[in-house]
Amino acid sequence: MSDVLTATVPLGGPTLPQERRIVTSIPGPRSQELLARKAAAVAGGVGHTVPIEAVAAGGGVVVDADGNSFIDLGSGIAVTSVGNAHPAVVAAVQAQVAQFTHTCFMISPYESYVAVAETLNHLTPGDFEKRSALFNSGAEAVENAIKIARKFTGKPAVVAFEHGYHGRTNLTMALTAKNMPYKSGFGPFASEIYRAPLSYPFRDGLNGADAAARSISIIEKQVGAENLAAVIIEPIPGEGGFIVPAEGFLAAIAEWCTANNVVFIADEVQSGFARTGAMFASEHFGIVPDLVTTAKGLAGGLPLAAVTGRADIMDAAHAGGLGGTYGGNPVACAAAIAALDAFENDGLIERAQEVGEILLGRLNALQASDSRIGDVRGFGAMVAAEFVDPATGAPDAALAAAVAKASIAAGVIVLTCGTYGNVIRFLPPLSIDDNLLNEGLDVVAEALAGVAA
Ligand SMILES: Cc1ncc(COP(=O)(O)O)c(C=O)c1O
Repeated sequence: MSDVLTATVPLGGPTLPQERRIVTSIPGPRSQELLARKAAAVAGGVGHTVPIEAVAAGGGVVVDADGNSFIDLGSGIAVTSVGNAHPAVVAAVQAQVAQFTHTCFMISPYESYVAVAETLNHLTPGDFEKRSALFNSGAEAVENAIKIARKFTGKPAVVAFEHGYHGRTNLTMALTAKNMPYKSGFGPFASEIYRAPLSYPFRDGLNGADAAARSISIIEKQVGAENLAAVIIEPIPGEGGFIVPAEGFLAAIAEWCTANNVVFIADEVQSGFARTGAMFASEHFGIVPDLVTTAKGLAGGLPLAAVTGRADIMDAAHAGGLGGTYGGNPVACAAAIAALDAFENDGLIERAQEVGEILLGRLNALQASDSRIGDVRGFGAMVAAEFVDPATGAPDAALAAAVAKASIAAGVIVLTCGTYGNVIRFLPPLSIDDNLLNEGLDVVAEALAGVAA
């Protein structure tokens, strides 16, 4: 069977035909077979959004085992920003995997880890001496950023925000705001985590200064700066609904942290690496975080994550206090060097800006003709539409789910998000071409029109 399968599987990467092509109902028969095996073999807690067996991906499409080709507006949740199976990433991985696959950086260091750290130190916001440490996942990076901040300040408490998402490990579940599906039944959670309100202009109507004053007052009254090691915030919350905070909100929080010996951590796991039309979303808000957590786009699809920040903070942890068996794996580092080179030198920031113009232009036009879209927001290739009941402004999660489902059935991968589940987020790979992106948005518009008001 594997010979037959190999012979019929198209190669991925940019050579894949860039077209939407639906030749079976979704899921098709081959995909149904795999999903039946999945149900019998894989833990039920591991869900999936698109009911297919993926066999190839590249440019702006994902192809399934039944020959269907989907327009990819999700990038595997903001991961394949350079494109799936980017040729430079593939070549770097192939060369490295033939050289050595693992020594453990904590046992026998190698150059590629150091090169990734150097590049991250240079690319992240802030003109000061920095250090980086590498890990396997975004959650692990966040855990380590908190460890480092606690060690540096000698203080225990951490403030996270409403609508925040930071991962599924015990500490990051505690930092994450939303109960279902991320936390329900998985407690008790890590202690000394406190939650502050976020700036959510569409729903709270507050300007940045007032929203920040509200949050700071709660932090001072309920936690106290003398107990607080770190504030962690996504400059644009991803899972929480691509909420763009009001102007001045993030800067005011960052300033308060600096004035109070509190480490300001920007979680750029979803928003980093050209995704928003800047190398990091923090740049849109003029903030310079003490520490930045990254993952997702960093290594072109291979698992790699990082904490990068001020050298004095990063160096506070004793030798052996940070690390892990696989953290900064050489194959993932080789992929990251290739991906980071593409981010820096292949015009991907500019491409994200162009993608953003198309996304915002099309979605704003759709909003003007359909009042069920309450808000359109975002930067670059990180843009979302929030669905509401036009009469009340109440979140309409059922509408977002129906539009996403119909879009997927018609061959366009879109993802929902938001605390209220009423947001569709658009995260195309930066390798998508304009025609495909526009066709994908046509399909979403048709899907919306097809759901009765
Ligand atoms: C902002 C943010 N932080 C942390 C994480 C956790 O990353 P991972 O799933 O790699 O553990 C995510 C994942 O979606 C994220 O969006």
